[in-house]
Amino acid sequence: MPEQIDIKVLIDEKTLKNKVSKLGEQITQDYKDKKPVLIAILKGSFIFVADICRFIKIPVFFDFMAVSSYGNAKVSSGIVRITKDLDTNIEGKDVIIIEDIIDSGRTLNYLIKNLEARNPKSIEVCALLDKNVPRKAENTVKYKGFDIPNKYVIGYGLDAGEKYRNLPYIGYIEDK
Ligand code: IMP
Ligand code: MG
Repeated sequence: MPEQIDIKVLIDEKTLKNKVSKLGEQITQDYKDKKPVLIAILKGSFIFVADICRFIKIPVFFDFMAVSSYGNAKVSSGIVRITKDLDTNIEGKDVIIIEDIIDSGRTLNYLIKNLEARNPKSIEVCALLDKNVPRKAENTVKYKGFDIPNKYVIGYGLDAGEKYRNLPYIGYIEDK
């Protein structure tokens, strides 16, 4: 039997764009005399970082890190692995971590610890989505897009088994 999937829209394109522009303006204000490094966490945040950076009206630098916390499963394994490290030295820099979504918070906790050990001047977190789940450890996200229900979401960079990253909205799959 062919797979029957029905994708429902959770956050549409216009709502995403409005929020992303607001977050970009906020970062512009807060960092007006600084030159922050945006560290995008791949792959999920590639679209988010590409969009938000165009609303940041100060000089910014980019670096990328890839981590794997899920493997191919939809449930976090709790084991975080760096699959691609930064190319630049962040010592003394103002760092902004750009994340797609916070679920259990384990990936972010690991990343913050890992990056703090490199002695940046400051670290803040900008996350598009925050899932409403009970957390073992609370993270501080300074720039947050949306609180969302505890559903598995796809689109705007987010995948399910590497599919759907190119959807222009945030959706979820309703099983039939
Ligand atoms: P955490 O360590 O449980 O917070 O998981 C964070 C990472 O898992 C995110 O950066 C995403 O890459 C991925 N992830 C968590 N929830 C979802 C989801 O609903 N859809 C797609 N990817 C997700
Ligand atoms: Mg991610």
